[in-house]
Amino acid sequence: MKMGDIKLDAYKLISFDKIPSTQDYAHDLIVSGDAVDKTVVVAQAQSAGRGRYKRTWVSHHGNLYASFIYKIYERDPKLSYAVGVAVAETLISFGLKPQIKWPNDVLIDGKKISGVLIEYARNFVIVGIGINIKTCPTVKEYKTTKVSEYAEADVNDVLSVLMKKLDKWRGTDFAIVRERWMELAICINKMIKYQGKEAELIGLNEDGALVLRFGNGYVLTYGDEISI
Ligand code: BTN
Repeated sequence: MKMGDIKLDAYKLISFDKIPSTQDYAHDLIVSGDAVDKTVVVAQAQSAGRGRYKRTWVSHHGNLYASFIYKIYERDPKLSYAVGVAVAETLISFGLKPQIKWPNDVLIDGKKISGVLIEYARNFVIVGIGINIKTCPTVKEYKTTKVSEYAEADVNDVLSVLMKKLDKWRGTDFAIVRERWMELAICINKMIKYQGKEAELIGLNEDGALVLRFGNGYVLTYGDEISI
């Protein structure tokens, strides 16, 4: 999708102190027919925040929890990378030095500071973004950190920058998104584990597939968006 296809008008903001999950609220809006393109559902806290792989996203007060609803005509596996770059660029604008772990986890000093959950419902995509600002949970699967370890930032200011960065990177030609994603990504040309096997992470190809090298063979894989 090019900049010309992206609406640059304001987001419709729906904000709560605490709800179970902004992602679920966004889903319900779509199912009830009340969703419009560029709606953002924000909560100060969530009681049932969800992460990828059916994990819980611990959501105490003080962080950013937002679900962005966009109208779509078809699924776009490249969106995942534009979102990762938008989150990383948001943190850069607050003076942080983020890196992206495929497809769109954002880390600082190797510790996760933000997660993205992309889900499709009817003719919309829901981009759920959590950014640790004032608190970070202890999680057994990975190390975590928060913006306040590195800079002063207000949740609303982070949201405001994030909306602009999402508009910018969703509307940027994929060749440029890909180049920026590769600059920000960790482990390019390094060995990683993929599905339990050692592989070299080569990068993204022009279609948005992750290219891995297993010995002499190459494997292409895509981001793990799911349907709800
Ligand atoms: C991940 O596992 O890395 C993705 C985490 C996504 C969390 C966000 S917070 C806002 C939105 N609401 C949810 O319940 N989940 C997403």
